[in-house]
Amino acid sequence: MNDTPTLSQRADALEDKMSQELDYIVIKSRLYSMAEGDMGPAPNAAAIMAKNPKARVLMGDDPRLPPMPARPTLIDFFKYRFGPAAHLLQSAKHAMTAGLPENMILASLLHDISTIGFIRGDHGYWGAQLVEPYVDEEVTWAIRAHQVLRFYPDPSVGYEYPQAYIKAFGADYRPDDYVEADYKRMRNHKWYMSGRMITVHDIYSFDPNAVVELEEFTDVIGRHFRQPEQGLGFDNSPVAHMWRAMIRPAKYL
Ligand SMILES: [Fe+2]
Ligand SMILES: [Fe+2]
Repeated sequence: MNDTPTLSQRADALEDKMSQELDYIVIKSRLYSMAEGDMGPAPNAAAIMAKNPKARVLMGDDPRLPPMPARPTLIDFFKYRFGPAAHLLQSAKHAMTAGLPENMILASLLHDISTIGFIRGDHGYWGAQLVEPYVDEEVTWAIRAHQVLRFYPDPSVGYEYPQAYIKAFGADYRPDDYVEADYKRMRNHKWYMSGRMITVHDIYSFDPNAVVELEEFTDVIGRHFRQPEQGLGFDNSPVAHMWRAMIRPAKYL
């Protein structure tokens, strides 16, 4: 006999667990379920509420996450939403030590914010879009380009295909066609070397003793990131909803 619970049994168990433990109900976005390989229906909020009349679907702040200020700054996102940022801090420090211009130090500091705070796949594209209204066009361009250029060596600056990629993706891995097409476009762009410089300072072998503090970049952020007065997520920009998605990732609607 097969004891593996069916999808609906699992959904029921989840509903029971939720209604017993919480007075709020979390219904995950489809993207999160698909990332778990789950194509089943979302838990039924009405059924959960029927079992626990106190429960409400989550529409406000998520009690499981650190609260955020009403007008969150980029630094607040680093503190309260992004995961460990050692890689970004070390990359930015590396870029600073090499004497890169301040806007490229900022690009190094921000190049993987999508990986640590939002969505991994196509993270250069997402990350660039997140910051587009607030930084120079060159910074956006370079952030988008870095993830593409990472796959292609450039001996002129001593950049090799990362050993870590061979290990992670296999020696026979080839980037998707759209990445290859973007590489060809980016290779001839006037800002090619800006994107390339992020890959040069995109370091994977961290010195575990090198502690870099975000405060070291307060001035660079202040000079090159146009922090909206209303806070990220509330400035009516074309990307405000993306920042709000990080503030309240489980908002029901
Ligand atoms: Fe990256
Ligand atoms: Fe990186």
